[in-house]
Amino acid sequence: CGIVGIVGSDAVAERLVDALKRLEYRGYDSAGVATLRNGVLDRRRAEGKLVNLARRLAETPLMGSTGIAHTRWATHGAPTETNAHPHFADGIAIVHNGIIENFAEIKQELAAEGVLFQTQTDTEVAGQLLAKFIRQGLAPREAMQAMLRRVTGAYALAVIFKDLPETIMAARNGPPLAIGHGQGEMYLGSDAIALAPFTNEITYLADGDWAVLTPHGVEIFDIEGRALARPRTTSMAAAFRVDKGNHRHFMEKEIHEQPEVISHALSAYIDFIENKVSPAATAIDFSRVPSLAISACGTAYLAGLIGKYWFERYARLPVEADVASEFRYRNIPLPKEAAAFFISQSGETADTLASLRYCRENGLAIGAVVNARESTIARESDAIFPILAGPEIGVASTKAFTCQLTVLAAMAIGAGRMRGTVSETEEQALVRHLVEMPRLMAGVLKSVQPQVEGLARDLSRCRDVLYLGRGTSFPLAMEGALKLKEISYIHAEGYAAGELKHGPIALIDENMPVIVIAPFDRFFEKTVSNMQEAAARGGRIVLITDTKGAAACGDLQTMATILLPDVDELIQPMIFSLPIQLLAYHTAVFMGTDVDQPRNLAKSVTVE
Ligand code: G6P
Repeated sequence: CGIVGIVGSDAVAERLVDALKRLEYRGYDSAGVATLRNGVLDRRRAEGKLVNLARRLAETPLMGSTGIAHTRWATHGAPTETNAHPHFADGIAIVHNGIIENFAEIKQELAAEGVLFQTQTDTEVAGQLLAKFIRQGLAPREAMQAMLRRVTGAYALAVIFKDLPETIMAARNGPPLAIGHGQGEMYLGSDAIALAPFTNEITYLADGDWAVLTPHGVEIFDIEGRALARPRTTSMAAAFRVDKGNHRHFMEKEIHEQPEVISHALSAYIDFIENKVSPAATAIDFSRVPSLAISACGTAYLAGLIGKYWFERYARLPVEADVASEFRYRNIPLPKEAAAFFISQSGETADTLASLRYCRENGLAIGAVVNARESTIARESDAIFPILAGPEIGVASTKAFTCQLTVLAAMAIGAGRMRGTVSETEEQALVRHLVEMPRLMAGVLKSVQPQVEGLARDLSRCRDVLYLGRGTSFPLAMEGALKLKEISYIHAEGYAAGELKHGPIALIDENMPVIVIAPFDRFFEKTVSNMQEAAARGGRIVLITDTKGAAACGDLQTMATILLPDVDELIQPMIFSLPIQLLAYHTAVFMGTDVDQPRNLAKSVTVE
């Protein structure tokens, strides 16, 4: 979910909706805005995308120069208008991101006292509790503090009060909140990008902080009501342009931006003169760490799995790579001297952050491989490894994935140098391969486009698709399947090619496309044997390979063969990502789905 608020000098509703547009990546099940005008709270809400809310506001505008707004990704209660935020509770409007864990217990108490609830949401419970404290005679600030003492869970929330003009109160315990400083106006947002059109002067709330915003400034307190000083920083968010350019979708734009953003990432991690990895890649001392733990979610996790292969191969470091939602609860015995990496585009994913905190408690060195440098995960790390992909708006991750891979590759080479497992000559050779990527990627984006579009038309008629790969192509197979299911809603599985015979082969028939990712590497022959097993059972093979691989296959009958240039094993995952992303993208376009905002998903998930 995303939150914005403005205590302004004139009507704010329209500006709030504009700011919400920049937060829509956080969820788009429903949205709403509430403002305060002459002691009256009023709101507009709508199911579905923001355009619906904008339309409603155009029909019946909202005046008021103090307001809060919200875009929702449903946790408690269906995504209906009734459950959309802001919620009202006796003179209070509240928006909330996260989960109030003890809401059921509080709700029961309030209900017993006669409070009537309009929704099933945990948010309304927080609002009703606050309203109760005010009815009991507490001043708004005291009431806010009392409410925060009572609720547990992870939340970011913002409140406006009927009887308190020109004021927003906000609190953070988990999901991020940024305060923006303006001229005679103050702003509040889930991130600095939302506030970029208004200001780049930002103060981040820390966990446990709550704040009172008025047009003149912000006061920040801890749960005991003690005033806190939090630094004011200048955000870089405003520097980024967030539009689709000439592309139909953000996803398409982001796929085509990869040669450029990979160059940015390389310039930060590579010394082009010496052909070496630059010190930025080794901001953690790998020389003495006994092992690495990598934890992340979704696409970032799959980047981490590829990173695992590289760290094991080049730095001879044992790596534990895990999805963060499992990692955080497994009570893993980790040596104190180990290092842990958290990979996250947004830097806010709740499970990844919780894993980070687990490792911090256990005394590990913490590295964050993030796109959002001002994010919570970045701020809580010992070393930040920015991936420099620029804002990624499409919910299905593309350029962030290949930038994560680029940074992890540089780190693995750097770690190998530090540990003496990669020689200087090897380092130079590997770096030269990395440096070739932007040029190769630009070529591939052009060369595969027509063929991929044709193939996507066929895939769009399928019910299931299987992706196979070995080595680093195995996580890539999983990423291919994830991309396809996320945006086309076609069921897809990514498997280690060697596992085909242990189960998925039972699914294969003439209706099942099998996409085989088989660069001409150490595993090529093995992968091809697995592909033959699938072909022998009538599976329709789509082979993604390189020139050498195609030559080695001879006259093998495939549904299609996508041909890529011969490249070193190190950069195969980045190069082979491109046809995989384009295939998912064009299949979804054929099916007419909402490519940038697929159903039920959100770009940044700040709940467990
Ligand atoms: C969500 C997104 C995925 C993303 C995952 C992790 O589920 O839809 O695309 O890979 O979160 O996000 P992060 O910001 O931590 O990389």
